[in-house]
Amino acid sequence: MNVDLYERLWMWGAAAIVAVFLVAIGISTFAYAVRPPSHVETIDPAAVMQDARFSTPGVTTLSDGSVRVTMVALTFAFLPNEVHVPVGKPVTFRITSMDVTHGFEIAGTNANTMVVPGYVSQFTYTFAAPGEHLVVCNEYCGTGHHTMQGKVIVDPAAAPATAPPSAPAAGVAR
Ligand code: CUA
Repeated sequence: MNVDLYERLWMWGAAAIVAVFLVAIGISTFAYAVRPPSHVETIDPAAVMQDARFSTPGVTTLSDGSVRVTMVALTFAFLPNEVHVPVGKPVTFRITSMDVTHGFEIAGTNANTMVVPGYVSQFTYTFAAPGEHLVVCNEYCGTGHHTMQGKVIVDPAAAPATAPPSAPAAGVAR
């Protein structure tokens, strides 16, 4: 069967482009481990507050010293809407929605996830400096979307309990 030269060139060209795309996906998947930032964990969105994982949302310090923040998103609030977390320690956020899809973005950081009803979104973030961060919903979720916000307050590290007295050395001339 005779295939015109130009037709053959375009067919090989199209095949080459597809091959380049597949290689790019392969590299990002296996070499750079690029993947959705969460795991897959499901939950009944109609029974979030009855679920042991979310019935007492808030901040928990686990036995290994890591910190977990459990939060529920709903129209149009985060529950709780203000949390205190320590500086310099990994903080794992676990968030779910009891109604529609929301967003959870910690302003000034790259911590950002969708919050989809039926699923638990989870990511871990370490805050490098103390301070206050606004939390915003960045998925349009209804008439009150723009009012849906919260706050993450990063507390400064506590002074070590056994710190030596810091009296100035006597007799040092300056
Ligand atoms: Cu919740 Cu927008």
